[in-house]
Amino acid sequence: MSLTRMPNRTTAYDSTVISGLDPLSADAMYPLLPMMNAAADVPALTTAVRRILPSTSQLAEFSLPESLAAMRDLGLFLGSLKRHGVEPVVAVPELEPVLVELGRRSDMMPRDTVHHYTEWNPVGVRQRMYTGDEQEGFLMDAARMSLPHLAEAVELCRQLTDVAPDQPEFGTLLTQLTGRLAAFDEAISMVTRKVTPEFFAQGMRPYYEEITVQGRSYLGPAAAHVPLFLVDLVVWAADHGHPVYDEFIDEAAQHTLPQWRQLVPGWRTGPSIVGRVADVLREAPDGAPPAVPAEGITALAKTLRTLIAFRAKHLTIARKAYRDEVRLYDLGSGGGSIALLHQILDLTRENSSAVAVAHRRPASAQVTGAVAARVTGGTDD
Ligand code: HEM
Repeated sequence: MSLTRMPNRTTAYDSTVISGLDPLSADAMYPLLPMMNAAADVPALTTAVRRILPSTSQLAEFSLPESLAAMRDLGLFLGSLKRHGVEPVVAVPELEPVLVELGRRSDMMPRDTVHHYTEWNPVGVRQRMYTGDEQEGFLMDAARMSLPHLAEAVELCRQLTDVAPDQPEFGTLLTQLTGRLAAFDEAISMVTRKVTPEFFAQGMRPYYEEITVQGRSYLGPAAAHVPLFLVDLVVWAADHGHPVYDEFIDEAAQHTLPQWRQLVPGWRTGPSIVGRVADVLREAPDGAPPAVPAEGITALAKTLRTLIAFRAKHLTIARKAYRDEVRLYDLGSGGGSIALLHQILDLTRENSSAVAVAHRRPASAQVTGAVAARVTGGTDD
C-alpha cells in the first residue's frame, strides 16, 4: 500500500503520487456518493464513512502521501454530512481522532482543504465528487489549472525577494511571474463560461460549510483558500495592504501546505516589491537617470494588471453568486465577503495605478504616497 515510508518534502505533496493512492480502499464508494447526497441519505453516508475509516494500526503505517489521500477521501464525507445538517464528528465520533491524527501526520489542519479536494483528487473514473455534476468538475479543474502555476509563482517570488529593483533579473523574474499568474485569469474565464452562479451558490456552496473538530471550526475545501495571497505579499501587500486582508490571509494560510504557510510571517514583514521600488525612486536625486530600469517597472505593472484581470472577473461571478435572490449564505466559503473581494481588488488597483504613475515620472514618483493604506468603497466590474 505504501509508496515510501519517509518521502522527502519535495515529493511528499506531489499531486500525481497522491491522486494515484487509495489508502482506504474506497474507490468503489465514490460513484455512490452523489446519489447519497441527492437523496440526503445521512444513514448511508455515516455507514459509508465508518466502512472506510482506518484502524489505529493502519493509520500508524500511512506514509505522508497516504495520509493526504486518506484525508481527501474522508473529506468528501465531512462536507456531505455537514451539507445535510449533521456535524460529522457528532454523527461518527470515531472520525475525530482519525482526523486529528491525519492532520498531525501531514502538518495540516484536521480536515480536507482545496489541495485535497482538487489537485490531489484523481481525474477520470476515480474522481471523488459531491454531486457528480460536470459543473463541479469544472470548478475542481479551475483550481487544478491554477495551483501548479502558483507553485512556480511562489518559487519566483522567493527569488524576487533577493533581487534589487535595479538589477536586470528583476524585470525578467517579474515577467515570468506574470506568465504563471495568467493561469488564474484562464481558470476564472473557464469557470465563467462553464459554471452558473446559481450552481455554485445552491449546488456547491453548501458542501463547503465549516465543521467542528475538537471544538474548533474548520472551513471547507474552497477555492478561496488557493493561496494567491503569497504572491500579493511579495508584490505589494506586505507594506501596502490592509488589516482586513491580513485577517483573511491568517485564516486562509491555515488551509494551505505547511511549506507555504511557513512563508507568511517572513513575507508579511516585507518590504514588498512595490515598497522597494518606491524606496529606490524616492532616494534617486531629481533629474537623475531612472533608478529602476523601465523594463522592471513595465514588468511590475504587467504583474499587477494580471492580478487585476483575474480579480475583476472573479468578483463579477462572485457578486452574481452572492446576490440576494441566489445566495443561501451571507459569507463565502472561505469566511470572507463580497466586500472583502472589492477591497482586495481595489488595493491591487491602487498599487497598479501607483506603479503606472512611477512609470510616467520615473525620477520623482512617490509610489507609497499614491497607495495610502485605505480601503475605498470599490467599483463594480
Ligand atoms: C463561481 C465560482 C466562484 C465564486 C462564487 C467565488 C467566490 C468567492 C468569494 C465570495 C470569495 C471571498 C472569500 C470567501 O469565499 O470567503 C472568494 C475568494 C477567493 N477566490 Fe473565489 N469564487 C469562485 C471561483 C474561484 C476560482 C475558480 C478560483 C481560483 C482559480 C478562486 C480563487 C479565489 C481566491 C484566490 C480568493 C481569495 C481572494 C483573492 O485573492 O482575491 N475562486 N471567492
